Formats: sequence, C-alpha cells, structure tokens
Amino acid sequence: MRTCSLRFFLAAVSVGLALAPPPPPTPNHRSVLILGGGVAGIIAARTLHEQGIDDFLIVEARNELGGRLRSKRFGAEGRQVTVELGANWIQGTQEEDGPANPILILARKHGLNATQSDFYESIQTYDETGPVDFMDIFNKAGDAFTDLTIAGGARVQRNQVDSSCRTGYSIVDSKPKTPHEMASEYYMFDWEYAQTPEQTSWIASSWANNFTYSASAGGFSDANLFSTDQRGFKHFIHAEAATFLSPSQTLLNATVRSIAHSADGVVVTLVDGTRLSADFAVTTFSIGVLQNDDVKFEPALPAWKKEAIDSMAMGTYTKIFLQFEDKFWFDTQFALYADRERGRYPVWQGLDMQGFLPGSGIVFATVTGDFSTRIEAMSDAAVQAELLSILGSMFPNTPIPTPTAFFFPRWRADPLYRGSFSNWPAGFVGARQGKVRANVGARLWFAGEGTSRTHFGFLHGAYFEGQDIGARVARCVNGAGCESLPVVEDVVNAAPYVV
Ligand SMILES: Cc1cc2nc3c(=O)[nH]c(=O)nc-3n(C[C@H](O)[C@H](O)[C@H](O)COP(=O)(O)OP(=O)(O)OC[C@H]3O[C@@H](n4cnc5c(N)ncnc54)[C@H](O)[C@@H]3O)c2cc1C
Ligand SMILES: *[C@@H]1O[C@H](CO)[C@@H](O)[C@H](O)[C@H]1NC(C)=O
Ligand SMILES: *[C@@H]1O[C@H](CO)[C@@H](O)[C@H](O)[C@H]1NC(C)=O
Ligand SMILES: *[C@@H]1O[C@H](CO)[C@@H](O)[C@H](O)[C@H]1NC(C)=O
Repeated sequence: MRTCSLRFFLAAVSVGLALAPPPPPTPNHRSVLILGGGVAGIIAARTLHEQGIDDFLIVEARNELGGRLRSKRFGAEGRQVTVELGANWIQGTQEEDGPANPILILARKHGLNATQSDFYESIQTYDETGPVDFMDIFNKAGDAFTDLTIAGGARVQRNQVDSSCRTGYSIVDSKPKTPHEMASEYYMFDWEYAQTPEQTSWIASSWANNFTYSASAGGFSDANLFSTDQRGFKHFIHAEAATFLSPSQTLLNATVRSIAHSADGVVVTLVDGTRLSADFAVTTFSIGVLQNDDVKFEPALPAWKKEAIDSMAMGTYTKIFLQFEDKFWFDTQFALYADRERGRYPVWQGLDMQGFLPGSGIVFATVTGDFSTRIEAMSDAAVQAELLSILGSMFPNTPIPTPTAFFFPRWRADPLYRGSFSNWPAGFVGARQGKVRANVGARLWFAGEGTSRTHFGFLHGAYFEGQDIGARVARCVNGAGCESLPVVEDVVNAAPYVV
C-alpha cells in the first residue's frame, strides 16, 4: 500500500513537471547572465563579446565593477590618497619573451601606475625589544620555502599523496620555534596563502607558487608590481570593460538572492524581488559566498558539487591602515615584526616613500587567517590600540603619536566575499577540484579565482577562469557543441592531480 501511494506520488510529480510551462521569460531575458562583476565576470563577458554574443547582463551587488579590486580614499581631510583594501600586486610579471601575466598586459594597455616591490631586500626586522637584525634567520626561511616547493614537486613525481605544508616543512627539516623563526616562516608562507602551513596543501601550494613565480616551472616571473595608481588598481579592469561593455549590459546595486536552474534555463531573483531570466548563467561568487549559502540554488546544488565547494578553504588577508602626521618608521618597503604569538601583526608596509605615496604619512600592517577573524570581531578602537602598542615595541625610543586616520576592511564578515581568496587544504585532490569548477547541468556554470586549478587566489586565476568558462558558454550559446566539464561523482582515491 505504502509503495503504491509512493509510486502514485512520484508519477504525479513527474507529470506535473512535464506539463509545467517553462518559466515565462522576463522582459529582460538574456542569453547569458553573468553573476558578479569582478575580474572573472568581466573577462567572461569580454570572451562572449569576442564570440559575437552581446546579449548578456552582468549582475553585480556593489555599485561598481571590479569585485575584490577595491580601493578607498583614506586619510585625514585634505590629506587623502587612494589605498587598496583588496588586491594590490600584479604577482608574477614576465621574463624576457616568456609567458606574461594577463593582468600585466592589461595594466600596461591601460597605463596603470605600479612600482616593483622588493620583498626580500628592502626589509628590516624587529621584535618586542625594538629593531633586531635577524636577516640570517629570515634568509634561511626563504630557503626553507624553496626546499618545500622542490620537495612538493618530488612528491608529485613519485605519485605520493598530498600532505599539509607543516608536514612538508618538517620533512625538509624546517621547524621554527623562536619568535624570529616563526615570523620569518610566516612572511614566506601565511602572508602569501592567507592560511597557515597546517591548513594548506603541500602539493597545491608548491604548484601555485611555481605557476605564478617560477618562469622555469610554468610561471611568469618572481617579480611583484604594487599598484600606486590614484584611480585605484581597479582602473585597469574598468578601462578594459569600457572597451566593449555598454551600460545596458550591466546591472549594478543588484544583489542575487536565488538562482533557479533547470534544463530550460535559469531564473535569477534579486533581493528586491526583480526576476531575470536567461538561457545560461555563470556565477562568479567567491568560494566563501558559495560555502555560506548567501545565494540560494533551486533546486539545491547536487551533493557532489556541495562537497567539492566545502572541501576548499577561504583564507582572509587583512590590511590595517594607519596615517600619522609625520613618518617615524623604517625607510625600507617592509618591516617584519616577531611577536611571541605567531601571526600577531607581523608584516608592516610603508607607503610614505619614493615610488609609493610619498608624503602620505601612511603605514599599514597585514594579518591573515585566524588573526583576521579575531580582529574582525573587535572594535576599531581596540584594534588600533593593539597596533599602537606594537609600534611602541618596535620603536621604543619614539613616543607613538595618535594616528590621524585608521581603517581596516572586514572581508570575512562581508556577505559578498566571506574572506579574501581561496586556498587548498591538505589532501584536497584533483578530482574534487574539478568538481568545484564543473557546470551543474547545461545551464549553470561557475568561474572565479576559486575555480582555478593552477592560479587559485590570484587576479590572473580569475582572469583565466573567466576566459575559459566564457569560451565554453559561448560554444553552448552558438550551438558549437555544449560540453560539460567532467565530474567524478565519488572520489575514492587520492591520486595527485594532473594540471
Ligand atoms: C585583501 C586581498 C588581497 C589580495 N591581494 C591580491 C594581490 O595582491 N594580487 C592578486 O593577484 N590577487 C590578490 N587578491 C585576490 C584577487 O583579488 C581575487 O583573486 C580576484 O579579484 C577574484 O576575482 P573574481 O572575479 O573571481 O571574484 P570577485 O572579485 O569576488 O567577483 C565576484 C563579484 O560578485 C559579487 N557578488 C557577491 N555576491 C553577490 C550577490 N549575492 N549578488 C550579486 N553580486 C554578488 C561581488 O561583489 C564581486 O564583485 C587579493 C584579495 C583580497 C581580498
Ligand atoms: C547604486 O546605489 C548608490 C548608493 O545607494 C547610488 O549612489 C548609485 O547611483 C546607484 N548606482 C546605480 C547604477 O544604480
Ligand atoms: C616547483 O619548481 C621547482 C624548481 O623550479 C621544482 O623543482 C619543483 O618540482 C616544482 N614543484 C612542483 C610541485 O611542481
Ligand atoms: C602616476 O605616477 C606619476 C608619477 O609619480 C604621477 O605624477 C601621476 O599623478 C600618477 N597617476 C596616477 C593616476 O596615479
């Protein structure tokens, strides 16, 4: 009896589905909705445009394009400059006529102002007693990081499974114990990945390093260009968007609440109730947004997709800006401060210097990971007090004045980001990564920094993914063969991935 009624119920449902008319096209039906207007969304749009498809709409929650390229006028009245709350560097540029970072190409095309950062030479070291030279330990930590990436490569060659970078560091005999050693390791590692060696995949982080920084191992170069452009680092992508995008192709101030998807197409509902329909959608929301269910999928994403998204991690990288009447700090680009507590306000950057923003009176500290989470929960005044006390330790002979301006962004709490960029946890395997970027059905596609196998975490990762997924969707729209990305439903072994 029970079986019977269940059968009847199922039959009724499927008949109901079969008879239901497809969702009525909204007045502004499009071929493609691009959800999110960061680098991935804009480059996906440009790729569609290049394939002759202009019937798309970029839907963005904020009132401008650029996503995590986010600048702010910072400083006391009459003394404000543009600083970057999010991405700031073109990481990995180009060696001679080797492959160029596509962000470098766009920055050159649109005349972006940027200065080369010198991470390893233009730096001074401090601890709780003031300036202390521990450059020997610092340089050893640099060598240990190189050893880590080489040993990571050897693991791949021998088909060994992944481990955490903490395991990797131990295997290459780097076991930081003192504050100087811990701060030096932090600078080489956490400051790049926004998570600790314990939290990070050994193989994926070695690969990520090589594919960006090592020209001999598939990357661009080891240089980093720091944007000082007063139009904001976002200028390069705004200027690029202006070359092909018309106002009717973007919808700003439009926050997506839900995405209904079926074999017929997609219907996106905004928080204000507006409905938009399309044949295809590309979502470019961060891994953090997807993990936090900030956007609802109808039907819910399949289990394989949810598991893949939840297997990735979202790190947080927080810059804390201070402006003072006069500069009283180091003349190098960077300072490393070794606290007894690993990760406590370790990296400092001066902007008040030639090539950066001379006369700005600005210095900023960076924290990452759990330390970011911690300060996001504190008041601005409490965080400022901690920073001033650290400066007091670093400069014991200087009375530390009250800053004229103070600011830090709360990336993790922000429902449009939920962190700063993605990172691979230890043991995250290739088949799962493939499912992070795989489409769900023929209509719903995913792109962004967090879907990149080789350049996750970077602007150029977002660029490459926008380009690749944009081209796939263009083939669907143009009827040139709409091919799904492969999905291994049950990942039952941990074979290292193929790139
Ligand atoms: C603090 C920080 C420092 C960084 N430093 C660097 C660096 O120096 N160099 C580097 O290469 N990379 C850096 N990155 C990483 C880089 O910024 C990102 O990899 C890249 O910008 C991601 O682009 P994206 O298009 O994938 O995602 P996003 O830029 O996040 O684009 C997604 C868009 O979706 C929008 N959105 C989210 N939810 C909704 C919704 N519900 N409805 C509508 N729209 C929504 C967002 O507003 C956003 O504009 C940094 C990032 C941060 C945060
Ligand atoms: C978006 O909202 C902001 C603030 O509410 C407003 O100033 C801006 O004009 C709006 N932009 C668009 C394109 O609607
Ligand atoms: C990274 O590059 C180094 C040297 O260029 C190489 O020895 C190592 O195998 C590479 N690592 C990976 C994971 O490919
Ligand atoms: C670029 O740098 C030059 C030289 O420092 C400066 O004069 C100019 O104002 C800068 N332009 C922008 C947009 O930042």
